Amino acid sequence: MKNIQKTLLVAAAVLAASTSMASAAKLTLYCSAQEDWCQSMARGFEEATGIDVNMTRKSSGETFAQVKAESSNPKGDVWWGGTGDPHLQAAEEDLTEPYVTGMRGELNDWAISQATSAGDRTIGIYSGALGYGYNADLLKANNLPEPKCWKDLTKPEYKGHVQMANPNSSGTAYTTLATMVQLFGEDGGFDFMKALHKNINQYTKSGSAPIKAAGRGENTIGIVFMHDAVKQAVSGFPIKVVAPCEGTGYEIGSMSIIKGSRNLDEAKKFYDWALTAVAQTRALEVKAYQVPSNKGAETSPSAPDLSSIKLIDYDFKKYGSSAERKRLLKKWDDEVSTLPQ
Ligand code: F6P
Repeated sequence: MKNIQKTLLVAAAVLAASTSMASAAKLTLYCSAQEDWCQSMARGFEEATGIDVNMTRKSSGETFAQVKAESSNPKGDVWWGGTGDPHLQAAEEDLTEPYVTGMRGELNDWAISQATSAGDRTIGIYSGALGYGYNADLLKANNLPEPKCWKDLTKPEYKGHVQMANPNSSGTAYTTLATMVQLFGEDGGFDFMKALHKNINQYTKSGSAPIKAAGRGENTIGIVFMHDAVKQAVSGFPIKVVAPCEGTGYEIGSMSIIKGSRNLDEAKKFYDWALTAVAQTRALEVKAYQVPSNKGAETSPSAPDLSSIKLIDYDFKKYGSSAERKRLLKKWDDEVSTLPQ
């Protein structure tokens, strides 16, 4: 009898231990910044809190589509990084959770405005200007002039030399499309995208892929956020960064808690931690040169100086709205992507 009791007690102890292991604090993070930065944020949060992080990296438009597809049975807790437009669309479509962080006092105004315009369902974590970069060696080898403006990229001599991402999957490429419409008007913007299409050698899935390819010498010009081009240049690749002469758009990289998060306490902890100066300064370790939203976070002297770049007054409310994003993407699919090259 004593032996049976002993066995039962041991079994109960094993069960209790495995149950507590199964319910150990964890967080599922969807990340839309660069892979190395996503890894650094996941590991940094684990070290700071002991909460296990399961992270996957996908581009901004792809993550939006995943969060939407999973909305009846959400699997993610926090969506960190990626351009702000799809985060705003997710907020409008009730796919994300309102949360007012205690970190607001440490943030730049543009980060708070992003939150305010979305009923606190998202917040700004970094900012960066759109532009392009080119491989100076390849440009020279092909006897091509240095491009300085957006419109230069539509000239016939650059045929097959320009790469950008697909605006459906990539936030960078959607920012490009929305920027052209704001810079040149609806018709002028689409005329630009059509002329550019003739010179495009590939539409990639991820926004930064075109400049990585340029760094490796597999592509000449990549339309990307300028900080992604700077990263290649400071890593030793022959990349020159261009702030286009007509002016350019920019992003407010954002973070949102996914509605129906199964680990809401951990999600809020991550959200608050990701807004601290310490967490945001981790960007420098992986050469992520965006402007951080925490006023106390460090920036690198290599980071593009936004005050010296001609920025348009990007209308986040309009271009982050569900109707406008859907409309522009459909129009690009129908009228640009199908054109012969
Ligand atoms: O981390 C680099 C970065 O360019 C961010 O600044 C931006 O928010 C994100 O990648 C966009 O990635 P994608 O274009 O793949 O959605």
